[in-house]
Amino acid sequence: MGKVTLLLLFVLLAFANAAPRFDCLPEPNGNQGACEARGCIWKEDDTGKNAPWCYFKDGVGYNLDSQQGSTYNLRKNGGPSNPWGADSTEIKLTTKSIGSVLNVKIGIDGRYEPPVDFPRETQSSTESLSLSTSFSNGVFSFSVVRQSTNRKLFDTSIGGLIFSDQFIQIATYLPSENMYGWGENTHQSLRHDFTKYLTWAMFARDQPPNSGSLDTVNLYGVHPYYMILEPDGKAHGVLIINSNAQEVTTAPGPSLIYRTIGGNLDMYFFPGPTPEMVTQQYLKFIGKPFLPAYWALGYQLSRYGYKGLAEMKTRIQAVRDAGIPIDIGVADIDYMQRYKDFTTGDDWAGFSDYVKTMHDWGMKLILIFDPAIEATYPSFQRAIAANAKFIEWETKAQVQTAIQNLYPMAKDTKIMLGVVWPDNHVAFPDFLDSTNNTQNWWINEFVNYQSQVAFDGIWIDMNEPSNFGTNQDHPWYFDSDDHPNDAPLFCPTNGSSPWEMPPYKTRAVWRFGDANSGAFLSSNTLCMLAQQDGGKQRFYNVKNLYGLTEAINTQKALFKATGKRGAVVSRSTYPSAGRYAGHWLGDNTARWEDLRTSVIGAQEFNLFGIPYVGSDVCGFIGTTTEELCLRWQQMGAFHSFFRNHNTIGAPAQDPAVWPSVAAATKKANLFRYQYLPYLFSLHFTASLSGATVIRPVFFEYPTDAETFNLGYEFMWGSRILVAPVIYQGTTSVNAYLPTDRWYSLFDYRYGSIMSPGYATVPAPTTSRIPVFVRGYSVIPRQTPSITTTATRSNPFELLIAPCPLGMGEGTLYWDDGETIVNDFNSYDYHQFDFMYNSTATGGSVTITHSKKSSKISLPTLDIIEIFNYPSAPNFRSFTINGKLVNVNVQRSTYSGITKILYISTEGLVNLSSADSIVLQWSNAGNSMFDISSASSDEVGKMKALNTNRYDELYF
Ligand code: NOJ
Repeated sequence: MGKVTLLLLFVLLAFANAAPRFDCLPEPNGNQGACEARGCIWKEDDTGKNAPWCYFKDGVGYNLDSQQGSTYNLRKNGGPSNPWGADSTEIKLTTKSIGSVLNVKIGIDGRYEPPVDFPRETQSSTESLSLSTSFSNGVFSFSVVRQSTNRKLFDTSIGGLIFSDQFIQIATYLPSENMYGWGENTHQSLRHDFTKYLTWAMFARDQPPNSGSLDTVNLYGVHPYYMILEPDGKAHGVLIINSNAQEVTTAPGPSLIYRTIGGNLDMYFFPGPTPEMVTQQYLKFIGKPFLPAYWALGYQLSRYGYKGLAEMKTRIQAVRDAGIPIDIGVADIDYMQRYKDFTTGDDWAGFSDYVKTMHDWGMKLILIFDPAIEATYPSFQRAIAANAKFIEWETKAQVQTAIQNLYPMAKDTKIMLGVVWPDNHVAFPDFLDSTNNTQNWWINEFVNYQSQVAFDGIWIDMNEPSNFGTNQDHPWYFDSDDHPNDAPLFCPTNGSSPWEMPPYKTRAVWRFGDANSGAFLSSNTLCMLAQQDGGKQRFYNVKNLYGLTEAINTQKALFKATGKRGAVVSRSTYPSAGRYAGHWLGDNTARWEDLRTSVIGAQEFNLFGIPYVGSDVCGFIGTTTEELCLRWQQMGAFHSFFRNHNTIGAPAQDPAVWPSVAAATKKANLFRYQYLPYLFSLHFTASLSGATVIRPVFFEYPTDAETFNLGYEFMWGSRILVAPVIYQGTTSVNAYLPTDRWYSLFDYRYGSIMSPGYATVPAPTTSRIPVFVRGYSVIPRQTPSITTTATRSNPFELLIAPCPLGMGEGTLYWDDGETIVNDFNSYDYHQFDFMYNSTATGGSVTITHSKKSSKISLPTLDIIEIFNYPSAPNFRSFTINGKLVNVNVQRSTYSGITKILYISTEGLVNLSSADSIVLQWSNAGNSMFDISSASSDEVGKMKALNTNRYDELYF
């Protein structure tokens, strides 16, 4: 071995073994004196890796005291103790297998556990995981090992295990830097960055994403879940069931350090081995996503700040007049009487009639509801009468009586009153109330209101829960013309409450400063000492579950009020929220950076089990531009939740504002509406068995390193790849296609084979954004109309993109689009499986009706479009199950140049005619469509017909 090699090896080994610095002074304004007073080491970081300057000495951890079966009794070792409370002397590690899932739990019996009802279903896997333990230098450690490769997926020999009442830390080496997930944060890249120390805060907060610069601030939800792609392309997932304020530090190594300030470390390892299998295992465990109503996949127009119903009507009309497919009108808090839930404002007279009109058009209405209820009006009165519960102070002595006494109905209660949009103080329903009184009252309010304004879907906002001006002498709303100066909520931050002022406050606080600068866990929310469920739960522990529990109750309310499944979207989420609601990515800004991070955010929420997700298209805060809005509309057309939303005071930004945006949106929406049967089938699969709908490209190509951080491309299921335009001023995309068979599905060389690798493809604003279909695909679609309702009764179509062997497969799920799914086993739906095959002599499509509904009617299958069809078919040779069928030769074409075979005949296939339908044909040596016998004029016409097929259909 040469000297250089040896040196390199040495450097590599030194780097691999370098334990990370465990931060001993994350509080703002730390200094050497404060650090050394904690018994920690102070050393500046000159590596540019952003390492903490104050860090623990070696040896932090636990000894193994004894072992009983799969329980390890651990005892605090003689190493450093932590500065944030007494280390627990004895803790327990228990491990168990739940099917293929390995659970490792570290903690103390009887401590707080999140009251979340995870189904914990499992799915078998070819892979198994095991736990191994070791003890060295006075420190107990464990690793989770993948049996098939002996790879350590989690390895705590890195040290740093700390367990005290309000500070818990665990650290691990990681098997690869390809880590995805953790949330909710704004990630500027899909893959995490291990080149430096970054601490990501996780604590639900009313906090707009900041995409303009790297910012590890915590946003609306909490997802202690990550996936890692191992060096050999196998993947695993890890969930930590913990709902306290928490954070994760990603560090060189690669390694991570997880910290939380309550509960236990209850960790679940999902073995995969493919990324999609990891997701399936994760979703079976936490709960598979709800199936949105079919219409909920339609385009939505929203804004905050409509002056009244008239304005909403005008904007919807403008979009409809522009011929843009649109399904959903959304009303923000403007529709309410002074922002009170379940009321209608004066400027909204006639709302119920307009909803009827919308319904007549085949459109739907989604209404916003905030959790907080003003303490003055009938909804609150009914809550009190029904003994519904609100989040409360712990004792009467804590109540801010000056506020409480303003409201006779709240006067003698412990209800914690805060301030949100309504003019007077508000109370926060306790969705953990185990008496069901709160749930019943909440449902009732929706039922009553729905009988006045017949909404179809529910948008739940501000449910972190957000409270304005907590602990502030001069909150922002004192300067607002639209909000009275209600006295703000003050939490006892100067007292000795361990909940209000815990020793370790997490990055959720320190990102904003410290107590001196007014940063508390209770900032923007309620006091941590508050109680729920009659004192059984502490807000300090359950705050992160508020959005989830509101979503659970609201989905029930929606079902009861409408009798249909509709859709709920929630701002705050936690693992399993996808069972009840979708999510939008919050108050983004109308900037290109925000368009980019939303492409990543939607992929992440699919990993989290919330596939009904999207961003505020065109940007919420600030003034958008024509170009940005156009590009956002084009990209958003591929997100399941597809809503243009805008803030109060910003100029209108619906697509009808600019002719160019209207044209691009119309085109993008028509494509979406055409492919809705495929998108819906992806959602159906996700609900049936757990899956992503939008997925990162690496999910399908886990050994192609080029895909590992390809955050700006994404896939629709396994078959369609989208490469959106996300940079200002660009009219092309440098798109990456993994090694496979690909076809263009957009205007550029539509239907032709695209070579794998990077290619710069044109994407002018007037064309669809680059979208590709993968070989071996049969994609169900439908002739698009202006609403999903109308589209649903149009004929079905199949797009066939064969693999090089001339084969393809696909599935269509079809239901009535709105019935509530209680149990898929008894649910009424159709499933069709398609198989395509072609040989030198002909082709066939086999349709298997795998699951039948007797009630749900089906349009006929009229169009089959086949890419790369080798030679002209004989249009007179088509048979279905052996019987000749007439193919409409006027509408059917084959081009030997584009190699697109387009079969179009009204009523071609009656999909319910048999359990197995075989459509078969043979090729013609010399048919009327044989290119070799056609005149050059005819060739030109045919070519034009095929390449412009979409324009011909759409305009
Ligand atoms: C905050 C939400 O995030 C935003 O989408 C909404 O428009 C406003 N609240 C007003 O309701």
